[in-house]
Amino acid sequence: MRECVADKEEDMESRAATSGGLSSRSQGPVDGPRADAELLSVRNLKIVYGNSIEAVRDVSLSVGQGQIVALLGANGAGKSTILKAISGVLYTEDGELENGSISFAGANLKGWSPDRIVAAGVVQVPEGRRLFAPLTVRENLVMGGHLVNGAELKRRMDMVFDLFAPLRDKQERISGYLSGGEQQMVAIGRALISGPKVLCLDEPSLGLAPQIIDEIFKVLHRLKDEIRTSILIVEQNAHRALALSDYAYIMENGRVVMDGLAADLAQNRDVKEFYLGMGEASEGKSMRDVKHYKRRKRWLS
Ligand SMILES: Nc1ncnc2c1ncn2[C@@H]1O[C@H](COP(=O)(O)OP(=O)(O)O)[C@@H](O)[C@H]1O
Ligand SMILES: [Mg+2]
Repeated sequence: MRECVADKEEDMESRAATSGGLSSRSQGPVDGPRADAELLSVRNLKIVYGNSIEAVRDVSLSVGQGQIVALLGANGAGKSTILKAISGVLYTEDGELENGSISFAGANLKGWSPDRIVAAGVVQVPEGRRLFAPLTVRENLVMGGHLVNGAELKRRMDMVFDLFAPLRDKQERISGYLSGGEQQMVAIGRALISGPKVLCLDEPSLGLAPQIIDEIFKVLHRLKDEIRTSILIVEQNAHRALALSDYAYIMENGRVVMDGLAADLAQNRDVKEFYLGMGEASEGKSMRDVKHYKRRKRWLS
């Protein structure tokens, strides 16, 4: 496990105090557990919106072949911004990659159109699903398969109905009238039909009932175990994300503050306290206490 230490302690403490989270420092190179089979790699990203808002500062991360990687952190940490950069859609929000590089299977994605990035196999399910609401489930799914032939499309559709059984009988339903959980299934299904080499999921559990979240995560576990899809998942539900993932990065205020094997992070006392809501130390404590706690405790193993 690696954790980041601020250049100046003051700096670190003020950040911990305002965010109520982990400590921070600039990052060194990141080599995940399977750097030998690295598929997607992001190096030293700096991303700015509207020439002024620095949303991501010097972030590096990687996803190995067949690996599930979680990107965790509070609202506004910069997680979606990283996924948007990977998918080449930052420009739609006046965002700009000011520094750094994104490579996939050895190719530098700089300047690639979003379509080309998808065709290469980097497919995102954005936050909020973004289905074509007036279209049916089937029509939405077929859209994911516009690059494949009929037989292959049928095979992939069957795979999606096998993973998301509730969708099989709802193929002719208008997507906009489905429940949030079903819409998320269609969104993930559509991405799967396009044959992703890396599937990027932005908060797939957001706004869903616990039972539906269970279903979504069951499918993600199947993707991991049966189909061995490589996945980069952004989640606020750290508990479930860590249980699913091989490796995880924790972000705060535009930076990665900690990364390590998901199993190690799930056991880490600070992660438990701040992200899994399991610590006693945080209960009833003010930010000032957290700050003192931080001073006592340096980042660990
Ligand atoms: N389209 C945008 N224009 C300006 N600022 C943005 C835009 N999108 C996000 N931001 C800002 O960038 C930072 C990171 O946002 P985001 O990547 O959405 O965080 P997260 O996904 O971790 O919640 C936040 O401060 C947010 O307000
Ligand atoms: Mg987000």
